[in-house]
Amino acid sequence: MTFDRHRRLRQTASMRALVRETQLDVNDFIYPLFVAEGEKIRNEVSSMPGVFQLSIDQLKEEMDEVVSLGIKSVILFGLPHEKDAVGTGAYHHHGIVQEATRYVKQHFPDLVVIADTCLCEYTDHGHCGVIEGEQVLNDPSLDLLAKTAVSQAEAGADIIAPSNMMDGFVAAIRKGLDKAGFTEVPIMSYAVKYSSAYYGPFRDAADSAPQFGDRKTYQMDPANRREALREAGADIEQGADFLIVKPALSYLDIVRDVRNEFNAPVVAYNVSGEYAMVKAAALNGWVDEKAIVLETLTSMKRAGADLIMTYHAKDAARWLKEG
Ligand code: PBG
Ligand code: ZN
Repeated sequence: MTFDRHRRLRQTASMRALVRETQLDVNDFIYPLFVAEGEKIRNEVSSMPGVFQLSIDQLKEEMDEVVSLGIKSVILFGLPHEKDAVGTGAYHHHGIVQEATRYVKQHFPDLVVIADTCLCEYTDHGHCGVIEGEQVLNDPSLDLLAKTAVSQAEAGADIIAPSNMMDGFVAAIRKGLDKAGFTEVPIMSYAVKYSSAYYGPFRDAADSAPQFGDRKTYQMDPANRREALREAGADIEQGADFLIVKPALSYLDIVRDVRNEFNAPVVAYNVSGEYAMVKAAALNGWVDEKAIVLETLTSMKRAGADLIMTYHAKDAARWLKEG
């Protein structure tokens, strides 16, 4: 009787390490931060244990930790004091993300600062663009998004990450950046962003839930696969330098499709709801947190992600260090 002896290569930890196809690397992690206008703010997000809204005066400690763990990049989300219909806080010279970017780049110049470019945290209606009645208007939103990106680049952001899902946003932002002299600032596009219930905890953290309706007229239908390639293709044509697929865990098939079709770096966004589910189970003692997080992040790399945005980044970095 002949058959393959797969177990030959699984006999010892060293043998398994030799034949391991996918490695997690702290260099691949992007850590999301919620920066709040104000002082002495350090609020834990109830649906995201271990994640805090922080004012700028609290950032030093957090960033020291991030840097000492070897994490190379953060993405900033802002919580402004005031919101209005057109999201003025998003593109204000002294907006919260702009000020936080200046702070981080001043104290941690080697860290790659990514600015999330959207309006929903800054609009009183909570949509990612400007509205007329209950309609989210596409083209009028593009000007404001380009303005936001330019003000973030002026503040020192190393990468612009537009998450708004208006049509043509990459072209509009590229044009705005180039015109302002930021030809070397890359765009990390949320190219493939599904309309997902997994964003729930983020909307608590960023206070960005839509006040009416939902985001289904601009974010993608979770049932669609080929449409993801149309979205990503359009963004590449418009000048995207990175492609984000979001959420990650329920969309690993899409991560693989995008990886196979395009040569730009692929980013998997391990979103808030994915984090919340793992944390809730871990806090109940129902799963082994370290093992399940490392397995989950590994699955994202195996699916084809080059980079992973994750709220687990600090813990994962620590665990990888421990070996
Ligand atoms: C805002 C934005 C969202 C996320 C990132 N940027 C939420 C949304 O679209 O409602 C979600 C991130 C997460 O859930 O971790 N455009
Ligand atoms: Zn938004």
